[in-house]
Amino acid sequence: GGKRDLKGKHILVNAGGTREFIDPVRFIGNPSTGKQGIAIAKAAIHRGAKVTLVSTASSPLPMGEGPAAVKVARTSAEMHRAMLEEFPHADITIAAAAVGDVRSQLNSDRKLPKSELPLNLQLEYIPDIVADLASRKRLDQILVGFAAQTGDEEEVIAAAKEKLARKGLDAIAANAVNSLQTGFGTDTNQATFIHKNGHRQSTPICSKLELAHRLFDFLQS
Ligand code: C5P
Repeated sequence: GGKRDLKGKHILVNAGGTREFIDPVRFIGNPSTGKQGIAIAKAAIHRGAKVTLVSTASSPLPMGEGPAAVKVARTSAEMHRAMLEEFPHADITIAAAAVGDVRSQLNSDRKLPKSELPLNLQLEYIPDIVADLASRKRLDQILVGFAAQTGDEEEVIAAAKEKLARKGLDAIAANAVNSLQTGFGTDTNQATFIHKNGHRQSTPICSKLELAHRLFDFLQS
């Protein structure tokens, strides 16, 4: 039951934390589990959308959730490639993935012995995927980001507003990750949605699925 207000729409979602490999057994990563992005994919399916989920986790959607295409992308480079490929087909894109900010310049195909591991790892910045998508965005497309941030509510919202503008997004979900009930790996979350037109709405602490529905309600309002 419920709302079918996304019927006929194609929703693209990315989820999870990228892994930036140093060699096949070592990587720089982050604590994102992909739960919020997966909940967004489920909510979109429930509302009648055709969904493409690009996830860093192998089997992110339980069977029987409905029409969804799932692509696995473990590194930011794989994520970037998959998102560029899917973006032209999407009416609404929600970038919930925690994409790394830096990666190792060294990326060996074979496991390095400890003696060959540099103690000063040379890093490089990872290109910003949503900013790249924003630069290719058509007028009929909507692009939404997430901003995971530590700090008090005011700091979290200020950082998210800056990212919304800098990355060229239509909206952003400011998401505090310093409490046990919100953020990485938890089943509950809390966010303030901020639209580029200034419209703003905060959710209570709620399930990640409810937060996903509230995000679609916000985007449709
Ligand atoms: O700057 P920050 O990582 O906090 O921004 C978060 C938003 O930017 C998320 O929507 C995330 O998916 C996106 N992002 C990205 N590519 C990056 C880093 C972040 O698409 N390299």
